[in-house]
Amino acid sequence: MKKDLLKLLDLTREDITKILNVADQMKYNQKHGLSHAYLAGKTLAMIFEKNSTRTRVSFETGMFQLGGHALFLSGKESQIGRGEPIEDTARVLSRYCDGIMIRTFGQEEVEKLAQYSSIPVINGLTDFAHPCQVLADLMTIREHMTRLEGLKLCFIGDGNNMANSLIVGGLKCGMDVSVACPEGYDPDQKVLDFAKTVTDCKFQLCRTPAEAAADADVVITDVWASMGQEGEKAKRELAFAGYQVNDELMKLAHPGAMVQHCLPAHRGEEITAQVFEAHANEIFDEAENRLHAQKAVMYLLMGEEEL
Ligand code: CP
Ligand code: NVA
Repeated sequence: MKKDLLKLLDLTREDITKILNVADQMKYNQKHGLSHAYLAGKTLAMIFEKNSTRTRVSFETGMFQLGGHALFLSGKESQIGRGEPIEDTARVLSRYCDGIMIRTFGQEEVEKLAQYSSIPVINGLTDFAHPCQVLADLMTIREHMTRLEGLKLCFIGDGNNMANSLIVGGLKCGMDVSVACPEGYDPDQKVLDFAKTVTDCKFQLCRTPAEAAADADVVITDVWASMGQEGEKAKRELAFAGYQVNDELMKLAHPGAMVQHCLPAHRGEEITAQVFEAHANEIFDEAENRLHAQKAVMYLLMGEEEL
């Protein structure tokens, strides 16, 4: 039966570890010029209903490096933009391609696409989740810290797609997770319900960044207004004032703590230029690892080996 990557809630800890191990191998192969054309002759359709730099380039490049082909479909220019139902798009693309990556608004669109497709579907970001990004984050943290289990991951800011996926991914990998968001901007209830079921590590939802950042090994933030929320920018700037990753906050974290940001970053809002530049190496490793982590996902979903 075909498998999809729709959200990290659907994966086990073993699934995530397997993806991260294959991602490390993909990175090694690419860095050492070893051939890894595991998806020769295969095609990935990429549907974008929102902007992207990293997701588009890393999927397209990754598919090329795996010996396959990726094609870009913008929501506006395809028939999706003229109202063709997702159920029909799913069945048509399933007749031509070997996988679909989609970036859209509602998680339910991605779930419906997967339900009607006979080929694997990968979530390239919805309002609810950003699983590919968080797999790259976990890969980067493991690379820098040599392990995930027992570390404390802290997220400061909006309880958005990144917060949701980091909570699930972190807890599934045995990390303690603390999140600081202003009231009214909490992570999704499904994610908070999942966190309640976790017994082997700690989850904390805080109202102050200082409480969340205390002794953290990894500090993560994201934009205050996500794609689709541009109209709320002014209101959000007020709500998130104080929810900034700056030098003062970093002093509360563990010495040597990492900083991750999925990018694009807004310096002077969710993160200061100083903290960003001090941790630029980790942040751009994170961006690079999108390529390797997604190649692992595509290989495991579209190749010979099963996830
Ligand atoms: N982090 C991320 O998903 O970047 P893009 O929006 O550029 O794809
Ligand atoms: N939360 C951000 C992530 C961008 C990669 C957004 O949804 O716009």
